[in-house]
Amino acid sequence: MTELLRTEGLSAFYGASQILFGIDLSLAEGRTLALLGRNGAGKSTTMKALAGVIPTRDGRVTFGGADITHAPAHVRARLGLAYVPEDRQVFPDHTVEDNLLIAAKTGPGGRRDWTLPRIWEAFPLLVKLRRRAAGRLSGGEQQLLAIARALMGNPLVLLLDEPSEGLAPIVVATIGRLLRELGAGGATILLAEQNMHFCLSIASDAAVIDKGHIVHRDDIAGLSANAEIRRRYLAM
Ligand SMILES: Nc1ncnc2c1ncn2[C@@H]1O[C@H](COP(=O)(O)OP(=O)(O)OP(=O)(O)O)[C@@H](O)[C@H]1O
Ligand SMILES: [Mg+2]
Repeated sequence: MTELLRTEGLSAFYGASQILFGIDLSLAEGRTLALLGRNGAGKSTTMKALAGVIPTRDGRVTFGGADITHAPAHVRARLGLAYVPEDRQVFPDHTVEDNLLIAAKTGPGGRRDWTLPRIWEAFPLLVKLRRRAAGRLSGGEQQLLAIARALMGNPLVLLLDEPSEGLAPIVVATIGRLLRELGAGGATILLAEQNMHFCLSIASDAAVIDKGHIVHRDDIAGLSANAEIRRRYLAM
């Protein structure tokens, strides 16, 4: 298995307060790693540090073997790291189709797997919304659009921060199905989530974060069978 993304001893701060304390993560090509933890555990901070939205204070981040520890966000994006933040950040005044077209680019190594027609195929719900302003979509529709937009850049790795958060169960199921299909198609995904059940049929591996430390690592089935770890670090 080829390792694509790796952090060693990653630490990050907001101002003077340290939030991440030496995070070690490894994501291999074609795997989906669930980064699980409670409210405030440090999931989003980890994702932001990986995306280059906040600086890494200590430690090292490598992507495809290259050291990106201090690379700015746009360089990481160009190298093939696509980040979908918690608040999705679609362009509210642009149509769904324009949001997708703005994001269209050839990926690293000339990857062109994702084009508009393929997006419509994989995201049938978006087809009938193509002319609607993104700001008028429901939360779930915006989440789908945000994932579709990330794919339009033909990335090597998707960083998804709590895609199920705040969505109705039926929409969560739709997003779950989509992520499962992406994973089956060979996508490499880091999925930050509070909801372990959502991850069960999607992720291959799991890392549990608590107070800015990785406290447990397992495959997702092992984690789901581990009542003690779930009780201690996850709200279930
Ligand atoms: N901009 C910020 N400035 C200062 N502290 C912050 C900031 N954002 C987050 N924090 C703090 O950092 C810690 C980790 O927050 P983070 O957002 O990474 O958690 P999370 O695991 O994503 O939680 P959630 O499930 O609520 O999204 C929390 O204690 C939080 O209060
Ligand atoms: Mg968060």
